[in-house]
Amino acid sequence: MTVTRLDAPRLRARAAELADLLIDAVDDGASLGFLAPLDRTVAEHWWKDRAEGVAAGRLAVWAAQDGDRVVGTVGLAFPDKPNSRHRAELVKLMVHRDARGKGLGRTLLTAAEESAVAAGVTLLHLDTETDSPAEHLYRTAGWTRAGVIPDYAASPAGVLRPTTLYYKHVAVG
Ligand SMILES: CC(C)(COP(=O)(O)OP(=O)(O)OC[C@H]1O[C@@H](n2cnc3c(N)ncnc32)[C@H](O)[C@@H]1OP(=O)(O)O)[C@@H](O)C(=O)NCCC(=O)NCCS
Repeated sequence: MTVTRLDAPRLRARAAELADLLIDAVDDGASLGFLAPLDRTVAEHWWKDRAEGVAAGRLAVWAAQDGDRVVGTVGLAFPDKPNSRHRAELVKLMVHRDARGKGLGRTLLTAAEESAVAAGVTLLHLDTETDSPAEHLYRTAGWTRAGVIPDYAASPAGVLRPTTLYYKHVAVG
């Protein structure tokens, strides 16, 4: 298994595989910004549209590959506000259902955290559907639960669900 950061051309080239991954997660009920069923063309375009942010340095995307197949991804979104250069948002952490439970989610999370530190980021934050399996991962990786917002986003099935906000101070040493 290898985890690599995708530049914009590689992100475009991998967009179809990343779309498969996103569709798998949405089919499984994960709250990632989309309703089910997620159309393949829409998903692929969504990933291709991310390339602009990657090229501009507003977004970093990693892909975990098993052989040549993309089985996981995670991103970091960097705010463009002058007062927010120290922080980044962890986004779209997902592992394909048939690759879960082997430590890949934790590996992707660690890769993003280490890269954030290397980029001078000192504060990370994220939101995740309350009581989702991902919460255990974040808590055991040292993230702090900041609170819950009710009715934050619709689940893939269209039911409004709460989200839990997490943050983590990260720094060299
Ligand atoms: C969350 C997710 C990325 C975890 O990926 P993974 O590769 O299975 O994670 P790991 O194997 O690294 O496991 C990390 C920890 O979470 C635990 N875990 C994983 N899946 C779990 C589940 N369904 N229920 C409870 N705990 C779970 C593991 O036991 C492990 O804990 P441990 O190290 O204390 O034993 C994956 O389930 C996923 O893609 N979910 C759908 C997308 C999603 O919800 N992403 C989060 C958006 S914020």
